[in-house]
Amino acid sequence: MALPQSAPRPQAETAPAPVAVARPRLPNAEAIVPYLQRIDEARWYSNFGPLLIELEQRLADRFARPTQVITVANATQALTLSLKAMDLPVGGAHVILPAWTFVATAHAVVQAGLKPWFVDVDPDTWMLDPAAVAALGPKLRDACAVIPVAPFGRMPDVDAWLAFRETTGLPVLLDAAAAFDTLADARLPSVVSLHATKVLGLGEGGFLATEDLALAARVRELTTFCFRGSRQSQAPGTNAKLSEYACAVGLAAMDGWPGERLRWMRAAQMLRIALIGRPQVRFQPGWGADWVTSVCTVGLPAGAAAHVTQVLREDGVDTRQWWDRGCHASPAFADCRREPLPATEALAASTLGLPFSIDMDAGEVARLAAALQRALA
Ligand SMILES: Cc1ncc(COP(=O)(O)O)c(C=O)c1O
Repeated sequence: MALPQSAPRPQAETAPAPVAVARPRLPNAEAIVPYLQRIDEARWYSNFGPLLIELEQRLADRFARPTQVITVANATQALTLSLKAMDLPVGGAHVILPAWTFVATAHAVVQAGLKPWFVDVDPDTWMLDPAAVAALGPKLRDACAVIPVAPFGRMPDVDAWLAFRETTGLPVLLDAAAAFDTLADARLPSVVSLHATKVLGLGEGGFLATEDLALAARVRELTTFCFRGSRQSQAPGTNAKLSEYACAVGLAAMDGWPGERLRWMRAAQMLRIALIGRPQVRFQPGWGADWVTSVCTVGLPAGAAAHVTQVLREDGVDTRQWWDRGCHASPAFADCRREPLPATEALAASTLGLPFSIDMDAGEVARLAAALQRALA
């Protein structure tokens, strides 16, 4: 039946569903069931059961050199407990971290009884530069550790950070939350997130990867009340273990990883192809070609993020400034020490998380490309 001229057009015709900024997909029930059956049979539900041991072994096997993997309830806790395990001088001591990071990095520092000290990132790599941190010179005496961050999964130069650790004597802990795919070397203790929004997710979870046996053992203890073979706590700790159910999801995710990785790559390649000829949109080097991550954060012309966000929203395309205006800008960290942060402020205004998901289809990619074309015309 024809609608009268004045009738509003039905919603579905005028407004297609928005293109979601993310659409996480964890292993389906069928893939998890065999592991759930193992839990039923073993009647072992938490406290370092067989599934946790298997998951940690399979994660450790991904590293070329002998590596310890300690699973933790989430990456924020893994960072906190790793800092605690390093026996840093709590109280007045500062931990250097980039202002261009997710708030979790700074929360972990505070939870470990230490003080965040925000330092600017390199405008090209979006990371802390070890040479620039070393150039803080005598001020470095106020720091007791450094946490470089692998932004959105791009790995920093591990050798350069090892040299920094060697020359300054400062411990370095890498926040590699989004770097499940890229972290292949744990000479620096490194923390990865297994949150549902990451390329390999199990809901909530994370792990420390390290070659330092003593550090691994200490973090393990801290995840379980600092028990050392008895029912007495030997020091303050917490409960940050993964249950066998979380590990069931993790093992199913590991089974599916080779195929899922290809599907992430395929989605990324579709996006890259759709944006060929649009040099104003800059992908992180190697993104979707050499490595994958679950988000697509791109560089845009200086200061363009707000305008692009608005135009894309009008076209039903969702975006996200994953790190908002930078970690330092959160009220929780307003009083924290900081160096001048011009690069972080520029990145906050010129980078944007575009829609990206493992099963993004050609229609969504085309809508995103068209909206970007309009925004950047
Ligand atoms: C840089 C960074 N560090 C830490 C975390 C915290 O991870 P989780 O959610 O597993 O605690 C995230 C989460 O996205 C992150 O992006």
